[in-house]
Amino acid sequence: MILVIDDDSGVRSSLQFMLKRAGYAVQVVPGPREAMEMVRAEAPDLILMDMNFTLSTSGEEGLTLLKQVKLFRPDVPVILMTAWGSIELAVMGMRAGAFDFVTKPWNNAALLQRIETALELRHVVRNGGDASAVGKLERSGIIGQSKALTEVLDVVARIAPTNASVLVTGESGTGKELIAEAIHANSQHAGKPFVKVNLGGISQSLFESEMFGHRKGAFTDAVADRQGRFELADGGTIFLDEIGELDLSCQVKLLRVLQDQTFEPLGDSHPRKVNVRVVSATNADLRAMVSARTFREDLFYRINLITIKLPALRERREDIPLLARYFADRQAEQNALPRVEFSPEALDFLSRLPYPGNIRELKNLVERTVLMCGKKRLEASDFELGNLAQDTSARPASNASPSFAGMTLDEIERQTILQALSSHRNNLTQVASALGISRAALYRRLEKYDIKIND
Ligand SMILES: Nc1ncnc2c1ncn2[C@@H]1O[C@H](COP(=O)(O)OP(=O)(O)OP(=O)(O)O)[C@@H](O)[C@H]1O
Ligand SMILES: [Mg+2]
Repeated sequence: MILVIDDDSGVRSSLQFMLKRAGYAVQVVPGPREAMEMVRAEAPDLILMDMNFTLSTSGEEGLTLLKQVKLFRPDVPVILMTAWGSIELAVMGMRAGAFDFVTKPWNNAALLQRIETALELRHVVRNGGDASAVGKLERSGIIGQSKALTEVLDVVARIAPTNASVLVTGESGTGKELIAEAIHANSQHAGKPFVKVNLGGISQSLFESEMFGHRKGAFTDAVADRQGRFELADGGTIFLDEIGELDLSCQVKLLRVLQDQTFEPLGDSHPRKVNVRVVSATNADLRAMVSARTFREDLFYRINLITIKLPALRERREDIPLLARYFADRQAEQNALPRVEFSPEALDFLSRLPYPGNIRELKNLVERTVLMCGKKRLEASDFELGNLAQDTSARPASNASPSFAGMTLDEIERQTILQALSSHRNNLTQVASALGISRAALYRRLEKYDIKIND
């Protein structure tokens, strides 16, 4: 049973109608007193609750009710409804344990989806892990058998089929994008588009046209109609990579579309409706950014009904031999080389490196060594060399400046970026910090100089 609490009789009856038509049993009550009576008598499966009761515009009454409900029925998911203008109230509610929030006027389809997701996740949590789920998981090239990785895959298996928004966190190179792809491959949206957007690479002025599209003539450079990423992702998954890089003005625009899955292309007043699963990734600490007010708290709650934290490679060293063999086999295959073996000492050596660049670093080291050595059996010393070559190139080249003679400023900048990319094995976070610029600024330059990164 779904319990609807709202003091507006029009809202109550339209929600009741909509929910009944969707097949749910529904009870409606006008205020906190009646709500608590109901909640005491029977546990609803879900509560849909207005935060703004007429008596207190501050929302205090709604917040108090939420806290009482949570005390009495901690396991019942509560979805809050607030006006867009008082979304701060929803944020306070989320801190107090609400599961999710919608803004009024609500979009029926989006609301039904939130309800369905809440009920599905409740089921998933209650019934715990299904051991066979991991076995059935389409692993999309995710290698490893460590406990740390298996736990992650268990969560992926359980939440992929729901529509819940997922935030994937972890250090650079831990496989966030791979996990995002696995979530998509195991979702109801598999086979539909998986659209990746690098939010670190989008300048503020381009954000809207990139995400929402534009009509021809919407602005000077809009020479033709263009579909935005949300439209391209319709029916599938949108992967919002580097979401911590998004500036505040873009955050609010993103929140709006995530809120009710509608948006308007630039230069077009017809709202578009989409059905898109949202998976985001970051290596930033979004909670700290929320405290520092550089990341909107409402957006934070909107993008992570579920958080998946990926372990660093040093926390799952037992996977290193497996990964090394996998990367070596693929490299040999791609270059039509004979299969390569590792001596036990080589695997032991590899298993003990620190890997600040995580799996990407291991992958690059193995691939480079396979190519450089051209041997059938790799020894520890082969990797020592490869690893050493890496370290020296990571130092700033002291002879860099003379070679710049006769170059334009742009050429020097381009060369400097290329050099930093190779020194830091294309790790953009490290490159940006080595160059003393933000990742967003780095992306703009990569675009400007048409530098393509292959992973
Ligand atoms: N478990 C794994 N098995 C096989 N390959 C992996 C695994 N995890 C990561 N990789 C590989 O390591 C590289 C880095 O992974 P990915 O791009 O997903 O990392 P990321 O966390 O998104 O990094 P960044 O924060 O730098 O964007 C990719 O080439 C990916 O295919
Ligand atoms: Mg990534």
